[in-house]
Amino acid sequence: MQQQKIIILDFGSQTTQLIARRLRELDTFCEIMPYNKFPSSDPDVIGVILSGSPYSVYDPEAFRVDLSQFIGRLPVLGICYGAQFISYTNGGNVESAGSREYGRQNLTFVDESCPLFNGIGTRSQVWMSHGDTITALPTGARRAASTATVENAAYWMPSFEGGSPVFGVQFHPEVFHSIQGTELLRNFVVDVCGSRQDWSAASFVETTVAELRSQLGDDRVILGLSGGVDSSVAAVLLNKAIGHRLTCIFVDHGMLRKNEFRDVMHDYECLGLNVIGVDASDKFFADLAGVSDPEQKRKIIGRDFVEVFNAEARKQMGAKWLAQGTIYPDRIESLNITGKVIKSHHNVGGLPKEMNLQLCEPLKWLFKDEVRRVGRSMGMPEHLITRHPFPGPGLAVRILGDITPEKVRILQDADDIYIRGLREYRTRLSGEEARRVLAAGVPADMKDGEIEVSLYDQIWQAGAILLSTVRSVGVMGDERTYEHPVALRAVTSTDAMTADWAHLPYDFMASVSTEIINKVKGVNRVCYDISSKPPSTIEWE
Ligand code: XMP
Repeated sequence: MQQQKIIILDFGSQTTQLIARRLRELDTFCEIMPYNKFPSSDPDVIGVILSGSPYSVYDPEAFRVDLSQFIGRLPVLGICYGAQFISYTNGGNVESAGSREYGRQNLTFVDESCPLFNGIGTRSQVWMSHGDTITALPTGARRAASTATVENAAYWMPSFEGGSPVFGVQFHPEVFHSIQGTELLRNFVVDVCGSRQDWSAASFVETTVAELRSQLGDDRVILGLSGGVDSSVAAVLLNKAIGHRLTCIFVDHGMLRKNEFRDVMHDYECLGLNVIGVDASDKFFADLAGVSDPEQKRKIIGRDFVEVFNAEARKQMGAKWLAQGTIYPDRIESLNITGKVIKSHHNVGGLPKEMNLQLCEPLKWLFKDEVRRVGRSMGMPEHLITRHPFPGPGLAVRILGDITPEKVRILQDADDIYIRGLREYRTRLSGEEARRVLAAGVPADMKDGEIEVSLYDQIWQAGAILLSTVRSVGVMGDERTYEHPVALRAVTSTDAMTADWAHLPYDFMASVSTEIINKVKGVNRVCYDISSKPPSTIEWE
C-alpha cells in the first residue's frame, strides 16, 4: 500500500519542525522540504502545509513559491506567513499590523462549516506571532475565525477553482500554547486530506525492510557502530533486511565507559548482528601521549578512528554501501534554508575513495524518539534504546590535560558509580514534567496522573569529568591527600543545541559524592557543574 505523506514547505520558521512533530504524533508521515522544492512528481502526497517565515511577504528577500504546483490539486493549509502568502498572491491583501501581535489570543469561530474546527466548539485559545496581517481575504475565501484584534485570523475556500480546499490560519496551531492546535491539525490531516493514520514504528519497520531489500539487492554493506541508539537501530534494521550481508565495525579507542566495549559487543551478538570488534586502544593512547590541547586531541582521535575503520572496511572486499545512523534533525540542520549551520554532523569521514561506497541512511526521516520506538518494536533491549548520547572521542574530552590509561581508569570508575546511581534513583513526576518525559519516549505507566522514572531517564545526558590539571588537599582517616577533583555533569535538553543543568536531588548528590571519594583511588573531591548551554557547552572540551 502507498505510504501517504504530507509535505511541509519550509519558509524558515522556527516552528516548522514542530509541525512535523505534531503530524507524526497523529501517526501521519510527513516530510519537510525547502519552500522551493515541492516534489511535484511524488504520487503519495495527500496534502501540503506552508510554514511560517521570519519574512514579510513584502520583503524583497522573502521566500516565494509557485503555488500552481499543488493548489487546487491537493488540500493546502497555510500557517501564518503561509496564509498571508496565499492571500497576497490570490487577490487578497496583507498589511503591516502596526505592532507585532504576539502571545495567547482567544479565537472565535465565525464559520462553523469550516472543517478545520470539527469537534472543537466555537472558541479556542491560540498562539499568535506575526507582524503583518491579512486585511482582505483571497478571492473566493470565507472568513473562518477572528480574535479581538485580528479579524481574518483564519479563512478557507471549500474548493480552489473547482478543486481541493485551501485553509489559512494566522496563528500557530503547532505550538504547545495553542490549546486545541493538535485537533485542528488532525482535522486538516485526517478529515480533509484523508490520512489513514497508519504510520507507526511497526509499519515503518515493515516498509523500510522491504525498501532496503529492493535498494540493496544482493550487495554487501558496512556500518560503523558506536554503541549509541541511532547506529544500533540502523544496524538491527539492516540486519532484518539483508542479514549477514551487513558487516558492522565497532572500534574501541580505549576511552569508552567502564566495560562498555564488552557489554555492547555482547548486546550486539545477542541481537544476531555480524560485528567485528576492533580493540585499537594501544594505538590511540600512544598517539595521544602528552597531548593536552582539546582540539588536538579531537583531531588525533578523528584521524586514528578513520584509519582503523578504513583498515577494517578494506577487508570487506566487494562491499558497495556504507550505512549510517543519520537521523532527521541532523539533516534538517544541514538543510536549514536560512543557511546557518548550527552543529556540524559527526560521521565516518574520509572513507577510502577506491572503495566507491554509496550511502545508505535508513533512519534519515526519523526523530530521536521515533528511532527509539522503532528499536523497541524490533525487540531491542531497553538499556540500549534509552542510552544517553556519548561523544565520539569519548572520555578523552572529559579528562582535562593529557590522557593516560590510569586517568581513564579513574574516570571510568567515578563515572560508573554516577551513572549506576542515576539509574537506581527513582522519583515520581506529575503534570508537565511527566508529560515531557513521556513525550521523549521513556516507557512509564501513568498512574493517578503520576509516573515513576529513574533520574537517568529524566535527563538528556550525564557524565563525570576528571579535572586532572587540578589538585586539592583533603583528609582521609588520618592521612592528608592531594588529589584530583571529579566534576559531575547532567543536563536536560531536547536536541543538545541548548541545555540546562539538571536539578538533581541533594540526597542523591550527597550519596554519589561519598561513594566516589570512598571507592575511587585518586579522587578526593566532587563538584557539580551548574552551567547551561549556551554559554557553556555540554562537554568540557
Ligand atoms: P557540546 O559539548 O557541543 O555537545 O554542547 C553537544 C552534543 O554533542 C555531543 N558531542 C559529540 N558527539 N562526536 C559525537 O558523536 C563528537 O565529537 C562530539 N562532541 C560532542 C555531546 O556529547 C552532546 O550530546
